[in-house]
Amino acid sequence: MVPASVVALFEPLQLGPLTLRNRVFISALTRNRSVPTNIPNALNLEYYQQRAKSAGLIITEGVLITPQGSEWPHAPGIWSKEQIAGWKKIIDAVHQEGSVIYAQLWHLGRTSHPDAPEQKATGLPVYAPSAISARGGKFRFIPGEPGYVTPTAIDDPTILLDLFETAAVNAKEAGFDGVELHGANGYLIHQFLDSTSNTRTDSWGGSAANRSKFGLLALERVIKVFGKDRVGIKLSPAGGYNDMGMPLEETIATFTHFITEADKLGIVYVDLMRYSEMLDPVIDGEKRATKHDILATYSPLFKHTKIFSNAGWTGEEAAAAIKDGKVEGVFFGMGWINHPDFAARLEHGKPLDNPIDFTTLYGTYHGNEEEQRKGYVDYPAAVY
Ligand SMILES: Cc1cc2nc3c(=O)[nH]c(=O)nc-3n(C[C@H](O)[C@H](O)[C@H](O)COP(=O)(O)O)c2cc1C
Repeated sequence: MVPASVVALFEPLQLGPLTLRNRVFISALTRNRSVPTNIPNALNLEYYQQRAKSAGLIITEGVLITPQGSEWPHAPGIWSKEQIAGWKKIIDAVHQEGSVIYAQLWHLGRTSHPDAPEQKATGLPVYAPSAISARGGKFRFIPGEPGYVTPTAIDDPTILLDLFETAAVNAKEAGFDGVELHGANGYLIHQFLDSTSNTRTDSWGGSAANRSKFGLLALERVIKVFGKDRVGIKLSPAGGYNDMGMPLEETIATFTHFITEADKLGIVYVDLMRYSEMLDPVIDGEKRATKHDILATYSPLFKHTKIFSNAGWTGEEAAAAIKDGKVEGVFFGMGWINHPDFAARLEHGKPLDNPIDFTTLYGTYHGNEEEQRKGYVDYPAAVY
């Protein structure tokens, strides 16, 4: 029997045309295991298949929409036929287990490095809204382990919108159930939203509406491909991670505009990340984020779109929020890393007691398959 404290998590949920079997979702988790080629592989399939046995909805790890010099050189992409074919196998396996899978479409903007081989191969600079470096970053595979650099302000941002659209076309061809735009954690869409990374004086910068334009147009591009009821976005209004964050009043004005307009577009969900201590770096002696009550501030704006949430939730707290009508589903991140059967454990009252190995979160960068398996597909399921 499902413990009473989490029973609300196991009510099915209609997400656009799809019925999710529960509300225990997997948040995007970069694991850096598409070694060596950015092509999703058999090991990645094994990882997703384990989790698909109990997750209601899986958001893939961040999927690079174009070759970029990521801090995680073995993140998967979706620009080639081989990548589409690799994803297709994973999607089929997930569907066979009765789960649903969205691709998280990811452009890093200023958090790429020009000396990373993948970036160099493109022959393109690192693009961002403005030529402002993020403080932080650590490229462990580049000699000297450099941090972020000053990017090149993109002349015409529609070039980057085209990349989102093409990635969505490829995601559809692969058979994904939908796409989530990565609008959080200081990556490209967030860089346009935030006035500390976007100081443009054209129609892509300045007012809250102008800074929202890039993300809203990106949503429109992927809606064109998937339909509005198969498109979501992840947002982290509190900022922090990757040097994001505006004064409170400007933060609220910006995200109020963005969410209101995204809701008008009729997208199926917004994943609102709460403030996370773990994702809030200390910069110049101070925590960087703009802490505020995310759900209380933005929930009243939602008229059509579902509110999902993420960051720091426990099963019990998530079930209570669902019961109270505050959210309709919750994304869990860390919990799924060391518990391949995370949702099943909640459902059957099993403890979440696998110790986590932080050294293997992102693989070993150079390891053979045996090493890549460690801390990835070798966490045991509970005994039922
Ligand atoms: C190893 C690791 C990789 C992550 N990769 C991504 C990612 O690719 N995209 C993303 O949106 N968030 C990423 N995150 C953030 C998680 O999705 C999630 O927002 C965060 O862990 C907070 O949720 P939690 O408290 O349930 O863990 C990552 C987090 C971890 C720990």
